[in-house]
Amino acid sequence: MNLGKLVLVAAGVAGAFGWVGSATAGESAVERGRYLVTIGGCNDCHTAGYLQNNGTVPESEWLTGTAIGYQGPWGTTYPANLRLVVSRLSESQWLAHARQERLPPMPWFNLARMTDTDLKAIYAYVRSLGAPGNPAPVYVAPGGKVSTPYFVFVPVTDQKHASAR
Ligand code: HEC
Repeated sequence: MNLGKLVLVAAGVAGAFGWVGSATAGESAVERGRYLVTIGGCNDCHTAGYLQNNGTVPESEWLTGTAIGYQGPWGTTYPANLRLVVSRLSESQWLAHARQERLPPMPWFNLARMTDTDLKAIYAYVRSLGAPGNPAPVYVAPGGKVSTPYFVFVPVTDQKHASAR
């Protein structure tokens, strides 16, 4: 066994025990980010068609935002293109940005509770997705003109069935 192989073996052992290995740590942050994004439901809103197609949208399209708005008393919001957002921020800017209050239906109060380590993993993952693409349409204030399709978030009570209960 030559010296080069020995060094590789030593690095592998150290990595396996979690001692060092920035390269392996980088890989796992991306993997962890993919996992968090998947179970955190980010694609449900930030990826076009994801919810409607039972999560079968190819990863190459993940988190590029959607042009279908969400309308309620807050106006009309659009799930942002997170690749673009993240591509413009440093890691530390992302930590602050991800924890800011947002308009519905963005569950910002959940994201704000995520640990730094997990938010950094999401940052690494979203950056790894490549081609940022185009921004989502801009927010429209209540009563403003909306030129895209949108979902309406208003609770409705079906009077016929409500009175039968
Ligand atoms: C129920 C739909 C929904 C889910 C689920 C969701 N988002 Fe959002 N998100 C939105 C909407 C809508 C906006 C735009 C809010 C606004 O305009 O204030 C947004 C905005 C954001 C922003 C701010 C983007 C900007 O413009 O700078 C970030 C960051 C973000 N979401 C991250 C996430 C992450 C990470 C997850 C998963 C953990 C997630 N979102 C899950 C709907 C959602």
